[in-house]
Amino acid sequence: MLGKFSRRHLMQLAGLSGIGMLSQPAWAQGIAADSPGGAHFPSGFVWGTATSAYQIEGAVNEDGRGLSIWDTFSHTPGKIADQTNADRANDHYHRYKEDVALIKALGVKAYRFSIAWPRVFPDGDGAPNPKGLDFYNRLIDELLANGIEPFATLYHWDLPQSLQDRVGGWQSSKTSQAFGNYAGYVTEHLSDRVRNFFTLNEPGRFLNFGYGWAIDAPGLKLATGELNQARHNVVLGHGLAVQAIRARARAGTRVGIAENIAACVPAIDTPENVRATETATRELNAGILSVILEGKYTDHFLEFAGKDAPKFTADELKIIGSPTDFVGVNIYAPQFYIVAKDTKPGFDVAPFPASFPHMNSEWLKVGPETAYWVPRMVKKVWNVENIYISENGTSSEDKIAADGKVYDLDRIMFLRNYLVQLQRAIAEGAPVRGYFLWSLMDNFEWIFGFEKRFGLYRVDFETQQRIPKLSVSFYRNVIEKNAVGA
Ligand code: BG6
Repeated sequence: MLGKFSRRHLMQLAGLSGIGMLSQPAWAQGIAADSPGGAHFPSGFVWGTATSAYQIEGAVNEDGRGLSIWDTFSHTPGKIADQTNADRANDHYHRYKEDVALIKALGVKAYRFSIAWPRVFPDGDGAPNPKGLDFYNRLIDELLANGIEPFATLYHWDLPQSLQDRVGGWQSSKTSQAFGNYAGYVTEHLSDRVRNFFTLNEPGRFLNFGYGWAIDAPGLKLATGELNQARHNVVLGHGLAVQAIRARARAGTRVGIAENIAACVPAIDTPENVRATETATRELNAGILSVILEGKYTDHFLEFAGKDAPKFTADELKIIGSPTDFVGVNIYAPQFYIVAKDTKPGFDVAPFPASFPHMNSEWLKVGPETAYWVPRMVKKVWNVENIYISENGTSSEDKIAADGKVYDLDRIMFLRNYLVQLQRAIAEGAPVRGYFLWSLMDNFEWIFGFEKRFGLYRVDFETQQRIPKLSVSFYRNVIEKNAVGA
């Protein structure tokens, strides 16, 4: 069978080469000549990895930390798939030195972590807790001593429970104000060593899942109008944080958001579909990225929301649209395949067939081209000059093999294909400055508990032993070469 197959194909190939079709196309020659061992990323490209506070720290009752909405939620029966919580998680609070050594061993030069608001302000506002901030001082010093640049996220979903109880969390603009103050306080104390801050992680996600669909903390199902108002308070919180950082942090401190952008991809690459994808990117991100980057809600968004549109003032829009230094996009699944349409709003979303492939997490549909189209769209639609891929990665079943190793070949397949597409976007001019692989190590995966593993290092949550998966070698090799091979 193989013999027959090979012979038939060899004959075809011989025919093609006879008319010159086997010679390398121009673009491939360029890459081969400039990039031994793969397609190169720009020099100075920032390779990193990422985690978040609640998912790894543990130590929930130590050094004066207040409760967060995720403590309450994970302790509510029936909310977390495996009935666990993150009281201990990766015990990173005590093992941070060991974990910084793992980061160093990866070869990355940057690490994105988040600061737990309830460690720094146990009640969300009021008196700060210096012991809470001290943990981040220790972590940052350890990172810098190991040549790793810290990128800090100010909010990765762990809202102080006290704000939820007293003012309704993001349902109140008092939370936006409190977030601004917290951001100013933290950056005033840390910006001597941390140059880059992300304000919020995935506002679109934590709002819809937490306040709209009761899937995540705090587990609410608000009516559409209330949800739109809460979303407005969230983007206002971002804007207030940007202003507080400009006022209180060291000059030169850089700030931006990290959003799980509604990732739009042309179903087929035609000029009409590409134009429709630009429109879709703007409209399907209207409540978060568009208003932040344009300082206004789109007409279509307001028209569509009608009586449920958020109430806002011109001053608030100005605050929300405060200029930022970069935009972080978390890229996982392609969310919308777009086809052009003649009538308003100018695009249609193609339905996913049930057979569309996904990774170990069912929501994580496989679409490497997302890493090409998203940066291209962010540049085209909002003319953003500095883009970071603030998260990309996948869960995998990650069993330990008989030889004690973890052969996470599906993760490597996923990363390789996404990185090839990202390199292609950059080669064509998308201004992507860095990439943070999610995640450094397996951790508490929110409603999935410890059932889903996204880490480069496998964690045994009983013994707290960390084992490098094969993807550690893969990523280290990419970083060393500053290139990825197809
Ligand atoms: C990202 C979050 O959306 O997805 C991470 O920023 C999270 O915190 C990751 O771990 C995986 O999501 P999930 O829902 O599968 O745990």
